[in-house]
Amino acid sequence: MSDTLDFTITLDEQPLPAAERERVLADPGWGQNFTDHMITIRYSADEGWHDARLEPYGPIPMDPASQVLHYSQELFEGLKAYRQPDGSIVTFRPFSNAARMNRSARRMAMPEIPEQLFVDAIETLVRVDKDWVPTKEGYSLYLRPFMFATTRALGVNQPANEFLFMVIASPSGNYYARGIKPVSVWLSRDFTRAAPGGTGEAKTGGNYAASFAGQAQAVANGCDQVVWLDAIEHSLVEEVGSMNLFFVYGSGPDARLLTPALTGTLLPGITRDSMLKLAPDLGVPVEEGPITIEEWQAGCESGEITEVFGCGTAAVISPVGHVKGSDREWKVGDGGSGELSMRLREELIGIQYGTRPDPYGWVHKIA
Ligand code: PLP
Ligand code: COI
Repeated sequence: MSDTLDFTITLDEQPLPAAERERVLADPGWGQNFTDHMITIRYSADEGWHDARLEPYGPIPMDPASQVLHYSQELFEGLKAYRQPDGSIVTFRPFSNAARMNRSARRMAMPEIPEQLFVDAIETLVRVDKDWVPTKEGYSLYLRPFMFATTRALGVNQPANEFLFMVIASPSGNYYARGIKPVSVWLSRDFTRAAPGGTGEAKTGGNYAASFAGQAQAVANGCDQVVWLDAIEHSLVEEVGSMNLFFVYGSGPDARLLTPALTGTLLPGITRDSMLKLAPDLGVPVEEGPITIEEWQAGCESGEITEVFGCGTAAVISPVGHVKGSDREWKVGDGGSGELSMRLREELIGIQYGTRPDPYGWVHKIA
C-alpha cells in the first residue's frame, strides 16, 4: 500500500467571513469552534486506505448500525498547530501522534494508518484553513485526528472491516478558562480509569466515557480534576484528568523529577516524553517510577516534594496546588505555581512557538 494518497479538495463555497472568523479567534474558548474544512479518509478490508478528501466541515451521514455507535471502536489524537514569529505555521511532533494512533489501533483491533498519510492529512487541512491558526500569544489551532468503525453490523464476533479516519481543527485559547492557576485534584477511590490488560494506554474514546463519573465526583467535591489511582490497591498515582503527572523533589540546582512509569495503564503522553528529554538538558534529572498517595502526602508535608504538575497537549503544564480525598487533604508547596513547573512550561512553549531553538527536531513546518 502506498504511504500516502492524493486528496480530493472541495472548498467551502461559503466559508465564515473573515471578520467573523477574527471575532472567533479573539476569544476562541476551547474545543467549541471549528474551521471551515475537515478531512475524511476511508478504509475497507478490500481496498485499504482510499478516498482521501478535504471537504467543507459538516455533519457526516452514519448508518445507525455503525459499529462505533454500539461498541465504541474509536481512536483519537490531539496536537496543535502554532503560529511562528515570522507568520509561518508548525505542528509539534506529529509523527509521534501518528505512531501513538497506530499503537492504539493495534490494541483496539483497528487498521493502522501510514504515518505519512496521517501527517499529510493534517498538513492538507492546516494549509487550507491556515487563516484559522491564531496569532494571539498562547493560542493555537488544536487538531483532532480520529478514527472509528463504520461497519454496519451488530455482531461482535465479526471484526469490523470498514473505518473512517477524519481530522477536524479547533482554534483554542487556554484549556482552563481561568488560565494557568494551580488546579485542585480529587483522589478517586470509587472509580478507576484503567486496569491491567485494559485499554488505558490506548487513546480511545471509551477511556474518557468511563472517566466522566470520576470527574463529576471531583467537581462535586470542589476540585478541578480527578487523580487516577491504580485499579488494584487504589494507592499508586497514575494520571490526573487527561494529563500525565510530574513530582518535583527539592528545588533550585538540587531539583529532580519523578513521573509514574508507563505500566500499561497510563497514556504515553507526548508532552511527558518531551519533558523526559527537556528537563535533563536543563540540568534536572528525571526518574520514571512508582509513587503512592501516602508518599505524595508525606513528601509534601515534609517539604521534600516542592511542586507537582500535570502535562498534556491541551493544558501544556498545569501546576497542582491542592490534593483532596475522602479521608485526607494537603497542599503542594505553597499551593501556587512552582518555579520549575513554570520554567519547563516556558521552555516547551518557546520551542513550540518558535521563540527558542529546537535542538530536538520536534517542530514540523507546515506553511
Ligand atoms: N493522559 C491522558 C489520559 C490524556 O488524555 C492525555 C492527552 O492526550 C495525556 C495524558 C497527555 O498526552 P499528550 O501529552 O500526548 O497530549
Ligand atoms: C490533550 O490533548 O491534552 C487531551 O487529552 C485533550 C482532552 C480534551 C482529551
